[in-house]
This record gives sequence, C-alpha cells and structure tokens, in this order.
Amino acid sequence: MHPNVEVLPSNGQVRALFASIRSSETSRRKFIFDSNRVITMLVEAALAKLPFREKTITTPLGLPYVGAEFVCDICGVPIVRAGESMEKALSNIIQDVRIGKILIQRDEETALPVLIYEKLPKDVANRHCLLLDPMLATGGSAMAAVKVLLDHGVKEEHIIFVNLISCPEGIGAFCSAFPKIRVVTGEIDDGLDERKYICPGIGDFGDRYFGTD
Ligand code: PRP
Ligand code: URA
Ligand code: MG
Repeated sequence: MHPNVEVLPSNGQVRALFASIRSSETSRRKFIFDSNRVITMLVEAALAKLPFREKTITTPLGLPYVGAEFVCDICGVPIVRAGESMEKALSNIIQDVRIGKILIQRDEETALPVLIYEKLPKDVANRHCLLLDPMLATGGSAMAAVKVLLDHGVKEEHIIFVNLISCPEGIGAFCSAFPKIRVVTGEIDDGLDERKYICPGIGDFGDRYFGTD
C-alpha cells in the first residue's frame, strides 16, 4: 500500500453498500442511491485531509469552545462523465463550492485516455482540488486529468484524488507519477482483466449510474 492512499474503513455498513452497488442484479435506482451514500463518505474523508486552523467560538452559555475552520479555498474537479456522479455529494457539503470540469473518455479499444474538454476556475492555482472519478483502472484518465491541473498551476500537494474503486495497477501508476497527491479510495480490487476493467469490479460505472447500458 502506498503511504498516500487511504482506504475507507471497512465495516458492515460499507461492505453492505459495496455488495449492493457491485451486484449485477441491483436496480439502477438502488445503484444510484447506494453509490451516493458511499461517495458522500469518501468526500467527507477527503475534506478531512484539508488544512484547518484552530478557531475559538463562544457558546450560548458564554463559554469558549475551541474548534476549527478551513484555511483553504476548494475546487471540485469531476472527470466527466462518471466523475459527475460525485459532484452533488461535494456541493451538498460545501455550499457554493467551485466546480471545474475535465472531460476525458477512455478509448474503448485501447483503454487510453482522450482529453476532450477542460474548464477550470481562473484562480484554480490557488485552490485545493478534489479530483473526482469513481473508477481508477489503468490510471490513465486520472493521470491525464492531473496533468491538466498541474498545467493550470495547481500544486501537486494540493490535489486529493477521490475514488470509489481502485486496483493495484492504477494505484501503482498514479502514485509513482504523482507521489505528493493523496488518494482516498473506497476499496482496492484484485486487478484488471484483458479489457482493462477492474475485477471483481462494478462493471461500467458511468453506464450504470447514468442508465446508458
Ligand atoms: C471510466 C472511469 C475513469 C476511467 C478509468 O471512464 O470513469 O474515468 O474509465 O479507467 P483508466 O483508469 O484506465 O483510465 P470512461 O472513459 O469509460 O467514461 P465514462 O465516464 O463516460 O464512463
Ligand atoms: N471504467 C469503468 O467504469 N469500470 C472499469 O472497470 C474500468 C473503467
Ligand atoms: Mg465508462
């Protein structure tokens, strides 16, 4: 395991949710509902990695309470299309969060990423970015997206990749290429098949979430 990779703590609830969304028999409605639940957990885990500073407030009893507050500006960056499934979880937690978009499609024959479109906030270089994509297979798409962020001046150490299902191949490639980026993933699977699909996996996440299968 790479030191920058955090896996969602496994417990009965998390395992039940993964059993639901991984099952080929789960309806689309339940797939979306249960995926959204795990994605919210992942986004919360990623937000907990951002820098905070101590903040003291006064309670209604006139007593001080030492808490904390964010000290950085945030930007969510879904890798379109499947990554857009994670956008709502972030904007439900952080009101008015800035959202950039990077459209990358994996070529179905070669499994290589094709960058099609990018649009990021003008001040993205000063922000901490949560890069959002539920699937980390070969790592090609996530690495192509990181290159876009770095080209816009985002600091490598200010990127957190938030991901639902990964595999050793993808984690190895991604973490070797970008050793300062932290990764929050739901589960690490066994590996890839000859079509570069994650095994045992979930199938094509985007098709199942958006109903295009
Ligand atoms: C999927 C997934 C990742 C990528 C993972 O997207 O959402 O972006 O493949 O594979 P990789 O690690 O080998 O690059 P896909 O291009 O199939 O598009 P989609 O979002 O429309 O499903
Ligand atoms: N994209 C998916 O949606 N699933 C995989 O297993 C690999 C890439
Ligand atoms: Mg797909």
